[in-house]
Order: sequence, then C-alpha cells, then structure tokens
Amino acid sequence: MRTASLSIDPTFVVAPVNRRTFGSFVEHMGRCVYTGIYEPDHPSADEDGLRTDVLDLVRELGVTVVRYPGGNFVSGYRWEDGVGPVEDRPTRLDSAWHTIETNAFGLNEFTRWAHKAGVETMMAMNLGTRGVQEALDLFEYCNHPSGTALSDLRISHGVKDPHDIQLWCLGNELDGPWQLGHKTAQEYGRLAAETASALRQRDPSLQLIACGSSHRQMPTFAAWEATVLEHTYDQVDFISAHAYYQLENDDLASFLASSRDMDDFVNEVVATADHIRAKLRRSKRINISFDEWNVWYREESRQLRASWSAEDWEVAPRLSEEPYTVADAVVVGSLLLSLLRHSDRVTVACQAQLVNTIGSIRCEPGGPAWRQSIFHPFAQAARLAQGQVLHTALSAPAHDTARYGQVPSIDAVVTHDAETGQLAVLAVNRHPGEELTLEIDLRAFPAARLTEASVLADDDWRATNTQQDPDRVSPRPNPQVQLEDTTLRAVLPAVSWNVFHLEV
Ligand code: AHR
Repeated sequence: MRTASLSIDPTFVVAPVNRRTFGSFVEHMGRCVYTGIYEPDHPSADEDGLRTDVLDLVRELGVTVVRYPGGNFVSGYRWEDGVGPVEDRPTRLDSAWHTIETNAFGLNEFTRWAHKAGVETMMAMNLGTRGVQEALDLFEYCNHPSGTALSDLRISHGVKDPHDIQLWCLGNELDGPWQLGHKTAQEYGRLAAETASALRQRDPSLQLIACGSSHRQMPTFAAWEATVLEHTYDQVDFISAHAYYQLENDDLASFLASSRDMDDFVNEVVATADHIRAKLRRSKRINISFDEWNVWYREESRQLRASWSAEDWEVAPRLSEEPYTVADAVVVGSLLLSLLRHSDRVTVACQAQLVNTIGSIRCEPGGPAWRQSIFHPFAQAARLAQGQVLHTALSAPAHDTARYGQVPSIDAVVTHDAETGQLAVLAVNRHPGEELTLEIDLRAFPAARLTEASVLADDDWRATNTQQDPDRVSPRPNPQVQLEDTTLRAVLPAVSWNVFHLEV
C-alpha cells in the first residue's frame, strides 16, 4: 500500500485557529428560514416559533457566526418590512428566488435565534437597490442604545438592548449581472466606500466587508477586487470571496481535488489585496471573509430559474435541497482544510448554507431534522481544531486529475493547542479508488496519547443520509490505526475524511 508521511513541528505556526472560520449562512432562500430554523407549528417549536430540534443540531455543528439575511435576497430587501408587529408586516415579491416573502421572520427574530444558537450575527446590508441612508438607518436601529427615532422604534418592538452587531457585509455579489442593482467595480467601490465611511462616523470599531468577486471564474475577477479596494482600502477590513463546487460529468477525481481551486483563489485574492496595499503605501492588511462556500449542484437551480413564470410565486418553496453524498462530505472536509491552512489571511468563513437550502442540516415541515453527510467534517473540525494551525510537511503519493493535473492524494492540516495539550490531525484521502497509509511523525510529542481516530467513508461514495436512514454516512472509529513509539500509522480508505485527536 502506498504511504504518505506527515511531520509535525509545534514551532512552525501559520496562525491561530480563527473561531470565525466555522461560520454559516442563513438566507431567506427556499426553506432555510421558513420550515427550516423557524416553524411555529412544529412540535419542537419554542415560544418564538424556533425549531429546537434544528437549534440542537446547529449547536452540535459548532457554528460560531452566521451571516444573514442574504445572499442575493438582500439586494432587494427592505429590512423595515421585517420588524414590528407581525400582522402589520407587508408581503412582498422576492425577485432573487422568485418567492413570496411574508416577512413573518425578520432581523429581531434572527438575532433572537442567534442568541439561542450561541452564534455571532454577521449582518448584510442592501447596496443593490438601496444606499448610504438605508444602511445608516439599519445600523441605528440595530446598534444605537436609545434616544433616537430608530433605536426607540426597536425598543418599541420589544428589543430593549442594542444588537451590537460588529460584522457587516457591504452588499452581496454586486459584480454579478444576476444581482439586483448589479454595478461596475467603480460604481460599487464608490458606494461601498461612502457607506463604510458613513458607518465609521457612527462607530469606528465596526468590522466591514467589501464585496469581492462572486466566484473565481467571473470575467472581472481580480480586476474587480483591485478597483474596489482602491476605493475602500482605508474603510474596510475584509474583502469577500465566494465559491461553490460540484461533481461534473462524473469526473470524481477532479471533484475531490476542488480545494486546489480554493487554495489558488485565496492566494490570488491575497496577492491582489497586497498589491493595492503596496500601491497605496498602507501598512494595514485586508483579510478575506470567505462568506459563501460549499458543494452546490447549481445546474438544477439554473434550470429551475429558467422555468420560472409570472404565475408561480410560492412561499418558501423547496430550493436546492441537496442530498449530500460521501464524496461531497470529503470535498467539504478538504475545503475546510484549505480555509484552515490560510488562517493567516482567511479570518472569517461561512458555509452556505445552514438548513435545507444547500444545508448541512435537513428537516421536514412537521417532521424530523437530521445531519447531512457534510455536517460531520464541519462539526469535527469545529470541535477539534483548536489553538494554532501548524505548517504541515506532508509528502504524499499523487494522482492525475483532468482539471488540476497531478494532485497529492492525501491532504492534511494539523492544529496544536499548547495550553491544553491537544493535537488534531484532519486529513482526506481524495484518491477516487485507492486506500493509502498515512504515517504521522510525532517525535516532537514523545508522550502523545491517541484519544480519537475516526473515518467517514462508505463502499458507495454516492451514499447519502435520508429521513429513513439519517446516520448512514457518519464518522466511525477507524479500525486500522496504530500508535507505536512516536509514529502514528493509519489506513485511509479511498474517498474518506479522517480525524485524529491526541493529548500531547
Ligand atoms: O447561497 C446561495 C446564493 O449563492 C447566494 O444568495 C448568492 O450570494 C450566491 O450566488
């Protein structure tokens, strides 16, 4: 059996593990909100109409920050529609997802949900159809303590304390022609800079995110980031990145190697941001908020979009409820490895999305909630990746892929928490058909004790979790692991996600 070797040195540190790497996303899209996190008639609903079965899974997933309310949705959204007495809220058409929006759930309901879920709120503003004044109004409603028209309005809505939201997205994907209020980089750069500067006059400590490209294949990619950052460099802290991957033409090897694209994407955005830093002669660095990433079978949603007619507007239709496979879970695991590896510059990341719509959690109206295959790598990484990300010296056998050429068949990231003595190795075998051995050199940790070794794999890489068989794809103890002296040896099946946790 071919073998990969991994050496670990605790002094070679990339960066601290950012807890915000384990973010997620709730958009008013499909059934993420309605019959997802919120379903007043559900048997598990609490006094706020929030599904407690879903809340329990969100806590188990280990999510730390959640972006809200979109996405494409936010670019046509009036936040005022979603506050105040529910019976007075207007019903609107949402053009982004061709949906009827009842506005029964809005920002105060979301922040209440976020509080119960134990997550930070990351709020997106509409810079598609709206501008600086509406952004300031939203900010005043959310964050100002009291004594002004909009803060007192919030208090009259039963929310005495300000939400104190620190992380704000200045719009969403405004480089995309599909976006309501689509703009050129110049137009968006100016608007984002004006909005950011107005917000900073209210609170200089806010953390602001300018929109980067919707994806790396956009014709304007990199030029968009450069122009936007020339306008906004002094006013923002982050530039966003979005990426979705899918199995195409049954090319499993390329799909499993998708994190190669994410690695390149991050490196290119960092290079572009640092170029503008040099050009403007600034000392601060702009980091990346990778605030949408996941596996998403977009073809289906494109076809759906093409079939929309003037009559078929629905409330909370089923959209992109992907039945995620073992292979999808391995790709999600490798994308997490890429995000962790870049912890020095990717300091916020949100998997898109949380429930039902491209979600890690699936649930049925009136029925159960369960973990999709992709839930597991996220939950394990969020739980085990602690302390600092280490540089990995990994020498692995390689294989060919049509899209990325030769790629190492095993990828891994190591985290080490010197204070608590925890070491975690997160690894994928992304070879489509060959099991491999991973040898981990633990000479730097002579007293290492293995406390957990699990593997997520299946004879059928297309296996999924369903309502009838919700745990078919789950991590199981890895039966083929040995720790001898200071070498840990494990067999990693083809198409597998693996974790090793040690006390050192
Ligand atoms: O997450 C689904 C959609 O993907 C978001 O609304 C949009 O920002 C992206 O294109």
